[in-house]
Amino acid sequence: MAASIKAKLQVALLAMAMSAEALVSPDGTGRVPAMGWNSWNEYACDINETVFLEVSDLLVELGLKDLGYTYVNIDDCWSNKELRRDNTTQRIIPDYVKFPNGIDGLAKEMHAKGLKLGIYSDAGTSTCGGYAGSLGYEDIDAAAWSEWGIDYLKYDNCNVPEEWVDEYPYYPEGGYPTPPLGYDYGASKTAQRYGAMRDALLAQNRTIQYSLCAWGHAHVEQWGNGTGHSWRMWGDIYPSWAGQDGYSWGLMPIVNQAARHWNDTGFWGRNDWDMLEVGNGNLTLEESRSHFALWAAFKSPLIVGTRLAGISEEVLSILRARELIDFNQDARHGEGVMPFAYEGEVPPSTNQTAHPPSHYVGTSAKGMHVFLLNSHDEDRDVEVRFGDVPGLLRGRAYLVHDMWTGEDVGVFSGGVTVRVKRHDTAALRINLAKGCAGTQTHPNPQWTPSTSHLF
Ligand SMILES: *[C@@H]1O[C@H](CO)[C@@H](O)[C@H](O)[C@H]1NC(C)=O
Ligand SMILES: *[C@@H]1O[C@H](CO)[C@@H](O)[C@H](O)[C@H]1NC(C)=O
Ligand SMILES: *[C@@H]1O[C@H](CO)[C@@H](O)[C@H](O)[C@H]1NC(C)=O
Ligand SMILES: *[C@@H]1O[C@H](CO)[C@@H](O)[C@H](O)[C@H]1NC(C)=O
Ligand SMILES: *[C@@H]1O[C@H](CO)[C@@H](O)[C@H](O)[C@H]1NC(C)=O
Ligand SMILES: *[C@@H]1O[C@H](CO)[C@@H](O)[C@H](O)[C@H]1NC(C)=O
Ligand SMILES: *[C@@H]1O[C@H](CO)[C@@H](O)[C@H](O)[C@H]1NC(C)=O
Repeated sequence: MAASIKAKLQVALLAMAMSAEALVSPDGTGRVPAMGWNSWNEYACDINETVFLEVSDLLVELGLKDLGYTYVNIDDCWSNKELRRDNTTQRIIPDYVKFPNGIDGLAKEMHAKGLKLGIYSDAGTSTCGGYAGSLGYEDIDAAAWSEWGIDYLKYDNCNVPEEWVDEYPYYPEGGYPTPPLGYDYGASKTAQRYGAMRDALLAQNRTIQYSLCAWGHAHVEQWGNGTGHSWRMWGDIYPSWAGQDGYSWGLMPIVNQAARHWNDTGFWGRNDWDMLEVGNGNLTLEESRSHFALWAAFKSPLIVGTRLAGISEEVLSILRARELIDFNQDARHGEGVMPFAYEGEVPPSTNQTAHPPSHYVGTSAKGMHVFLLNSHDEDRDVEVRFGDVPGLLRGRAYLVHDMWTGEDVGVFSGGVTVRVKRHDTAALRINLAKGCAGTQTHPNPQWTPSTSHLF
């Protein structure tokens, strides 16, 4: 195809995508989930330049960069807590004790290594940690970040002043007034706060991936696609299989929530189930495997949150599971997996102690994929009957492939039974066996594979 025709076609395609109101950025930025590392889960506020330089070296040395983990994201507590803003330019003042070369200096180091740098701020007066927030300073802050060489913004939701609080906020945890029929969350004050930063970022001549940390408030999944590239759907994650700790949730409650919202994810915009706790706390290896497999399957961003120095081979091998990463980053299918068999309630429960769905199906350029979660406290044989899997055909033979090991399991008719350890998740690719007639169809008719994405 001639370059000029291709360029025109791309412009036309961008315009088409824009008309569907997604935040479509140059060079495909944000088209598939972001991958990288963020400081919060491991270091909280105890950060400095050294932490990020060490992480960037390790991302390269451990082969994680080559697998796509390219964003190195600074979370809260990077600015000067007392001075806050320069009283002339109104710019946020970095903490030069923690970052002696400034944030721009760190960005240069990251870019020299082929990595990208992310920053953090808040759509309120202060961040969750009490540092300067960006509400009312969107243009000034976006311009500063752009000038510093920032590539990613995580935008939190603490300290919202009274005049910016929604009358009908909607919290996923409940406890909010019922809005009038037809209430438009896309016009909410929450959407306006996040929209103001989108506009400020778009006014810069630098592409900055935009991650909304709106905690599911004001039904962010209804307007997130036109505002950012991903949107947090709930409170924070913490490294526990189940349970709740204040505003933080363990893995199984989050998976229940993710299963309820399986269809809010696509190209250019997606539910964010929070950063990875793989390798943290007292999660077992199987629990970390389930965490990684399901976050990859739901097409949540894959942002590592563990200490890379001294990381064990076992944990590293989870983060390096190439076929799971490939599913998450698939260029043909933007949608995440759909649950189709349930251990718990149908549809998945808002009762967060209930078992989440056990069977999930999705499609990639390579075929159909089935994920089997064993949320029970003992090892189990988990059966997949091909005729029960939306998109697979009854009475055909299928080649079953293990996405964790990269090996074929064998050719099966009718179904396959897999031994899944306590709290582990099996990840299978299932293709029609060679010489077997028939085609595979996409499981979810509303997500017809699109040929319009040629990036
Ligand atoms: C940087 O932060 C790390 C992690 O909190 C800490 O171990 C280290 O001592 C700090 N270094 C400096 C120079 O402050
Ligand atoms: C402006 O900030 C500087 C420190 O950054 C301070 O020394 C100075 O007094 C401030 N000026 C005003 C007018 O607040
Ligand atoms: C765009 O970026 C260039 C450097 O790449 C800079 O010189 C210029 O001032 C920027 N323009 C605007 C409007 O920010
Ligand atoms: C997702 O499913 C829910 C309920 O099943 C439906 O109300 C909603 O419209 C669907 N979302 C999309 C984007 O189709
Ligand atoms: C967001 O918009 C893009 C482009 O139109 C579309 O492909 C994608 O499915 C949308 N995502 C969601 C979650 O609606
Ligand atoms: C570790 O797991 C146990 C139960 O399995 C739980 O009670 C405890 O709180 C966990 N500790 C941490 C630090 O997550
Ligand atoms: C939630 O689910 C658990 C486990 O299935 C059950 O024991 C409990 O009674 C349920 N709670 C409510 C409020 O339904």
